[in-house]
Amino acid sequence: MTQASLGQSVVQKEIQSQNNGVAANITHTQPLWLLAEVTYRCPLHCAFCYNPTDYDKHTQNELTTEQWIQALRDARRLGALQLGISGGEPLLRDDIEDIVIEAKKLGYYSNLITSGVGLTEKRIQAFKDGGLDHIQLSMHDITEEINNFITNTKTFELKKKVAAMIKNHGYPMVLNVVIHRYNIGHMRQILEMAEALGADYIELANTQYYGWSLVNRSQLMPTKEQIDEAERITNEFREKQGSKMKVFFVVPDYFSDRPKKCMNGWGEVFMIVTANGDVLPCHSARVLPNIEFPNVKDKGLDWVWNDSPAFNKYRGDSWMKEPCRSCAEKEKDLAGCRCQAFMLTGDAEGADPVCSLSPNHHVITQAIEDSRNSVIASQPIIFRNDKNSKAIIAGELNDRVKEFHALP
Ligand code: FES
Repeated sequence: MTQASLGQSVVQKEIQSQNNGVAANITHTQPLWLLAEVTYRCPLHCAFCYNPTDYDKHTQNELTTEQWIQALRDARRLGALQLGISGGEPLLRDDIEDIVIEAKKLGYYSNLITSGVGLTEKRIQAFKDGGLDHIQLSMHDITEEINNFITNTKTFELKKKVAAMIKNHGYPMVLNVVIHRYNIGHMRQILEMAEALGADYIELANTQYYGWSLVNRSQLMPTKEQIDEAERITNEFREKQGSKMKVFFVVPDYFSDRPKKCMNGWGEVFMIVTANGDVLPCHSARVLPNIEFPNVKDKGLDWVWNDSPAFNKYRGDSWMKEPCRSCAEKEKDLAGCRCQAFMLTGDAEGADPVCSLSPNHHVITQAIEDSRNSVIASQPIIFRNDKNSKAIIAGELNDRVKEFHALP
């Protein structure tokens, strides 16, 4: 799954319609979305993965099935309606069927977010019988070469088979394609491929730079011209094709003037339970200094959501500094992303540097320049894998990560 896809996802739009059209950003009295990152293990090694680069710390201490079921029950009691089952690759666990059955019993709208690796006829039938509502499949390109390169695997043919399997089992076909330098020139063909596969939705998620994608930022970032062209092609396709397939183009925030309202507001809508049970308001929160994130093994989700210092830390605007505090637009973006602000500037309370009004906006313009610098951009990609995660934990790749505060 992508960092981008949580903020503005197809599923979020669906939940709004289920929620009598009430936008999912009006209150923090209940979490609407529970994202269960059930494992960080993954057969793919995507260069753009948003997962923490030190994920290897959490591959041996995953929650048990019973602990997940308890978390689902507690979050539902708090009002969560939407369950995302994500990873890593969730299908590496053999208890997803049990989680799906429990989710159905509890009345969640459940969504499996998968690379497709490990989805068999037997498992998809079990998911259907168990009441799984939705499957979101990641695709990478129309060419085998780029698919296999960017994921560092041979999964091109498999993904097409899995897409057909999803369709055959009567699921809406929801594709997610992360867009970067290597596939942005194939936008029209990617859209045509999605149409040929019978997709109902496609999310074109321009890479946002967190986790592994931040380490590989200079290698992945396309130019502004390429992004504009990709958006133009997408709009043209939408006009020609009508409403048959819904197409979402997630604009990359490095090329916007204003930051995104990250996670729809800290502790407003989303609650993430990670593989080892840490409870976070966003994927990257553990990079932030001076915050202790609770764990479901020690604390109830009710306390976590309502009373924990972690979930209350960036609610409201009393924590904001200038220029955000007196900004007329602060309600719109809530000063952007806390994790991005910290990773890029070392100041978690400062304006997200994506904002052109931020005194640190130069770090974004510099990053864009670096991505055009052939010496910097030709450094090898660091793929997401256990060996590289261990190396980052051991401080062996410091030349690539030291410019980012507290990465992972
Ligand atoms: Fe945006 Fe953490 S990822 S606030």
